[in-house]
Amino acid sequence: MRRILILAVVALCAVAGARAQDGVEVPFVTTPDHVTLAMLQLAGVTPRDRVIDLGSGDGRIVITAAKRFGASGLGVEIVPDLVARSREHAERAGVSKRARFAEQDLFKTDLGDATVITMYLLPEVNLQLRPRLLELKPGTRIVSHDWDMGDWRPDRTVTLAVPQKTVGREKLSRLHRWVVPARMAGTWCAGDGSSLTVKQHYQYVEATLVRRSETTDWGGRLDGALLRLVGPGPGRTLVAGAVDGDRLVLPSTEHGLPRAWNRAAAGQSTCTAATRP
Ligand SMILES: C[S@@+](CC[C@H](N)C(=O)[O-])C[C@H]1O[C@@H](n2cnc3c(N)ncnc32)[C@H](O)[C@@H]1O
Repeated sequence: MRRILILAVVALCAVAGARAQDGVEVPFVTTPDHVTLAMLQLAGVTPRDRVIDLGSGDGRIVITAAKRFGASGLGVEIVPDLVARSREHAERAGVSKRARFAEQDLFKTDLGDATVITMYLLPEVNLQLRPRLLELKPGTRIVSHDWDMGDWRPDRTVTLAVPQKTVGREKLSRLHRWVVPARMAGTWCAGDGSSLTVKQHYQYVEATLVRRSETTDWGGRLDGALLRLVGPGPGRTLVAGAVDGDRLVLPSTEHGLPRAWNRAAAGQSTCTAATRP
């Protein structure tokens, strides 16, 4: 009995070694159908979306995104048999033009045209992907089945009962949603010489406004490119705006802040009235 156990452990280690060599970072476990639907709903998928499922298994997430939500999508899967199976499933579901599958390593995949990323991977794989996900277009939605992304806190988490779940003791699935925030850290200048110096921690920002020699501290958050800032003091003024590359627009004017701001050069921490937007 002991010999059999030792042999089994050695065999498992050999398989694990071979997997690591082949780039298979996560075993194949399917997302149940009702969880797949909930993932796509949580991402808010529409026909305008391009969904990329990282480690797409038998293709169910991309196929459901195409069939039920009218989106187009790409499943990225490293195991050839699973890619072949996914293409057959897409064909059978009548969505093979919009649900494509590529046999490739998810770490070597260009994610640039995704508007939605889905994944059912492992915590450490999510963390390895995190820097690349944060570089995607602001507003790109990411939904992960079960695993989070460390100190990048999700904007929303939902929990679903999954009585048939084969992994873990809890018969639950957790779905986490993030929206890639615009990159705002640094100083922004308005035409009147006001400066807004922003520290950013993922979607959360702290901003110091210097205006006509008065300094005030603001806090807020980014929902993609949309910025919400809450001002100091009892009034707690709320300012909503939008980041568009190197431009920041704060359209509501009742708080008296300048409307148009430009990103200052890296390392520049003060603004002059000459720095015109
Ligand atoms: C937990 S399964 C999820 C399958 C599917 N996304 C779902 O939710 O039903 C993870 C999948 O990732 C694939 N995978 C593992 N490492 C990969 C890699 N480096 N590149 C692409 N796919 C990978 C596995 O073969 C497996 O099919």
